[in-house]
Amino acid sequence: MKDQKKIVALTGAGISAESGITTFRDSGGLWEQYDVMEVASIDGWRKNPQLVLRFYNDRRKQLEEVKPNAAHRILAELEKDFDVTVVTQNVDNLHERAGSSKIIHLHGELTGARSSVNPDMIVDIGYRPIEWGEKAEDGSQLRPHIVWFGEAVPMIETAADAVALADMVIIIGTSLNVYPAAGLVGYAPRNASIYLIDPNDVPYSGRNITIIREKATAGMEKLKQLMIVH
Ligand code: APR
Repeated sequence: MKDQKKIVALTGAGISAESGITTFRDSGGLWEQYDVMEVASIDGWRKNPQLVLRFYNDRRKQLEEVKPNAAHRILAELEKDFDVTVVTQNVDNLHERAGSSKIIHLHGELTGARSSVNPDMIVDIGYRPIEWGEKAEDGSQLRPHIVWFGEAVPMIETAADAVALADMVIIIGTSLNVYPAAGLVGYAPRNASIYLIDPNDVPYSGRNITIIREKATAGMEKLKQLMIVH
């Protein structure tokens, strides 16, 4: 189908909260009881790689146990009528499991592992743990395929190109705290409509913005109704 309206959804931890995955900044700087910078930064990895491996092994195990929620599903269903690209900061695979087909992972994926020297040497590991001493093909320690604080975000340009073509941008469950991801909405065309779904106040004020102050599932249900009416 040509001439389909283009939607870009910018999603963050909040869209997966109702699936049982905790967000980062709602828990006072701790993430599942860990200091974010110890487990999600390149310095943290250098300081204590075994702790970082254990942390992500736990996250991967948890991911196997949770399921996509209605917000992920409604987003996937929108593909029936629209050209939808999901740009997510999440490292879970709940968008994939809900059926979305075009997904850009800005911060990597939990089900991947990579060489600790070559970011492009990535292998699929599913839900299994990465062991300390387990090597990538180049002989380096295997590490999670995650973009940590202090590292480049290789997918940012692809994501910005998608946003620049959007007729509509839906921001769901991100505190817009972390750059460059938080700057992506700035690439939207002047006449694009912007929707922001979050139960809390997110400091964003742009043109053409409609704020739906709800959790992701209720907010997406509302948005779906609005889109049917229009
Ligand atoms: N539905 C929708 N939004 C929710 C819900 C919910 N049920 N519960 C919480 N939220 C909102 C919060 O109000 C907050 O605005 O989700 C947002 C979560 O913000 P963060 O925890 O900062 O998550 P995110 O923006 O995805 O973080 C970005 O930071 O730690 C790094 O790399 C990590 O990708 C992550 C990045």
